[in-house]
Amino acid sequence: MPVSTVSSLNPPRRLLFGPGPSQVAPQVYEAMGKSIVGHLDPFFFEVVEDIRRDLRTVFGTKNPFIHVISGTGSAGMETALSNFVEPGQKLAVLVSGYFSERIAEMGHRHGASVVRLDKPWGQNFSEAEVAAFLDKEKPHAVAFVHAETSTGVLQDPSAVTRPAKAVGAITIMDCVTSLGAIPINLDAHGVDVAFSCTQKGLSCPPGLSPVTVSPAAVEILRARKTACPIWYMDLKLLLEYYDGAHRYHHTAPISAFYALHQGLALVNEEGLEARFARHVKAAAEFVRRIEAANLKMFVPAGSRITHLNTVCVPEGADELKARKRLIAEHGIEIAGGFGPLAGKIFRIGLMGPLATEDNAALLVDALISCLHN
Ligand SMILES: Cc1ncc(COP(=O)(O)O)c(C=O)c1O
Repeated sequence: MPVSTVSSLNPPRRLLFGPGPSQVAPQVYEAMGKSIVGHLDPFFFEVVEDIRRDLRTVFGTKNPFIHVISGTGSAGMETALSNFVEPGQKLAVLVSGYFSERIAEMGHRHGASVVRLDKPWGQNFSEAEVAAFLDKEKPHAVAFVHAETSTGVLQDPSAVTRPAKAVGAITIMDCVTSLGAIPINLDAHGVDVAFSCTQKGLSCPPGLSPVTVSPAAVEILRARKTACPIWYMDLKLLLEYYDGAHRYHHTAPISAFYALHQGLALVNEEGLEARFARHVKAAAEFVRRIEAANLKMFVPAGSRITHLNTVCVPEGADELKARKRLIAEHGIEIAGGFGPLAGKIFRIGLMGPLATEDNAALLVDALISCLHN
């Protein structure tokens, strides 16, 4: 038998300026290294309760129903769809990017009758457009992405929730990229079901997906006649584990919960408003420097995601080569576009600990040096 020569893992040090995962603070790594307890230990449920309380603040909700799915953002997406859209029910999806496409695809796989309102990637939806679509379709549910990571476009949630309420449809909002870096204000917008992740605005490692459900949507869940087709994501079963009897459902990834607990503690320590303001300042400096260098932002001002900027690849530049050089020469990770935007944009995150004006300067200087030399 060959003897393994691997001693310890030595990952390269990177500055994570991509769309996620974002840079993880040392305190979060430290929390992950703490001794685990069992998944039925009273201490674990104390950790869970702290997390639920702090997540309410970042989501801007008083929803009693707020839980964490063991899985990445896509697991939250699948949880929302599998619990709230039964086979044959009509699901309306607002599609203008890669992740809204994913919602439509998951809807199909769950047997929903999917109807789509399509716009070119990089655009958002006006209330009038959504109202006309929903009036015509009268769906059971409407799903949309708050911050579309594939394009850098922000969607106003109320432009969807108001017309949805008018036709009695429940709303499902993807907050994977927005949570923790920009205001969500779930209750003010009247969103029914929202899901997110840990590895972007909350700057924790990937692996968990916070999900919250309005009291009205909880009633819909309770009234559901068929069982959720995905046992692992069945919210009724998960409630028996996290709430009340704490009956075993699955072995929760304890260290990932520790990380989220610490990540949320850092958000509290800084203060949510101060955190949002820091992201806005860093983004403003980034855009100022990009434009001063005669580069062009892909999304018009006013529709941009503050902490996920998309920059047009200048004529004649090689997008992939520039990104490879950024990694090799500066240890900086950014991302490129995909689908219709492949090769046309850079996707650049300024989130979590890296969202500062100094880092915006460092990043733009590095990008320019890798584009032009
Ligand atoms: C808007 C959006 N939705 C869903 C996802 C899927 O999340 P994950 O990759 O954590 O499964 C992502 C990932 O980048 C995303 O940006």
